[in-house]
Amino acid sequence: MRQAGRYLPEYRALRATAPDFISFCLNPEMAAEATLQPMRRFEFSAAIVFADILLLPKALGQDVRFEVGEGPKLGALPSLERMRDRIEGAAGALGNIGETLGRVREKLDPSKVLIGFAGAPWTVATYMIEGGSSDRVAVRTYAYTHAKALDELIDILVDATAHYLVMQARSGAQVLKLFESWAEGLPEDLFERLVIGPHARIIAQVRAAGVTAPFIGFPRGAGALVQSYAQKVAVQAVALDVQASAAMGQALQKTVAIQGALDPLLLRAGGKALDVRLDQLLAQWGQGPYIFNLGHGILPDTPIAHVEQVLARVVHGQ
Ligand code: CP3
Repeated sequence: MRQAGRYLPEYRALRATAPDFISFCLNPEMAAEATLQPMRRFEFSAAIVFADILLLPKALGQDVRFEVGEGPKLGALPSLERMRDRIEGAAGALGNIGETLGRVREKLDPSKVLIGFAGAPWTVATYMIEGGSSDRVAVRTYAYTHAKALDELIDILVDATAHYLVMQARSGAQVLKLFESWAEGLPEDLFERLVIGPHARIIAQVRAAGVTAPFIGFPRGAGALVQSYAQKVAVQAVALDVQASAAMGQALQKTVAIQGALDPLLLRAGGKALDVRLDQLLAQWGQGPYIFNLGHGILPDTPIAHVEQVLARVVHGQ
């Protein structure tokens, strides 16, 4: 998950042949290859399609670029009317991602699961309004000073995301994941309005279209509010960040599956401390429905041997 390929030399080699990151994502042959690379190397049980959460703002008409070493840069926010007109067209404009999913599903071992995903509306809105990665102070203030405008933008994103995920499911995605990377720092009322409500509406729309694929919700940084998230949003699994407590995970496991929550810094550090934490995670959550994963994205300078160490222990008990 999250910009994951960069720790693999084969990813960096493939990436070097693409003119820029967005063309890479929109090239089904290359994106399918990038999706499959980690599956060839490691015994993972699921693959996540190679794409990015910021392709949706682009499909809605906002300029999006990835500048080397600077992260994403977004142009001026298009008018709400213009974006509203593009809601259904946006899923069509992202048809190449559907083609990537189809290609991957054809090549992937049938026992392996293929995950499709989208950014959740609030997280995507933070990039659209701030113009890139930020501390989100401006957009969190905007949530109070321009409540109506923000709610309208979120509604557009809810509808466009639902269409996009339906398209992904019909193209071969067997699980759908919503990345709410910036749920942190939201007071409870904003969390209900900007996270819980929009996620619930997306899932209702996807279900109304007849899609039965399970949903994983990842409200990163939501702290204790994760429990109300799991109660109010009809997800089948909740992805947990590195802070999630053993007790909270166990409480969640009574109603949903959980995913997470190994610290990417510990994966990079490796050694005995990594084994100790792996054993702890498996002991605290391994009796309930648990999808082993990181609590956030893998860091680009993570040694491959440390990933192998995790698989040996988690999959083979070594
Ligand atoms: O991890 C994977 O390879 C699976 C596909 C995937 C990518 N991005 C590919 C990618 C997924 C699931 C994402 C999600 C994503 N993208 C999120 C949500 C998850 C999270 O990280 O919390 C967010 C916030 C983004 C936005 C984004 N995309 C950022 C901030 C960056 C880093 C830009 C930089 O220069 O550091 C990206 C780029 C990106 N997305 C890369 C990949 C493989 C790296 C591009 C490269 O090869 O240089």
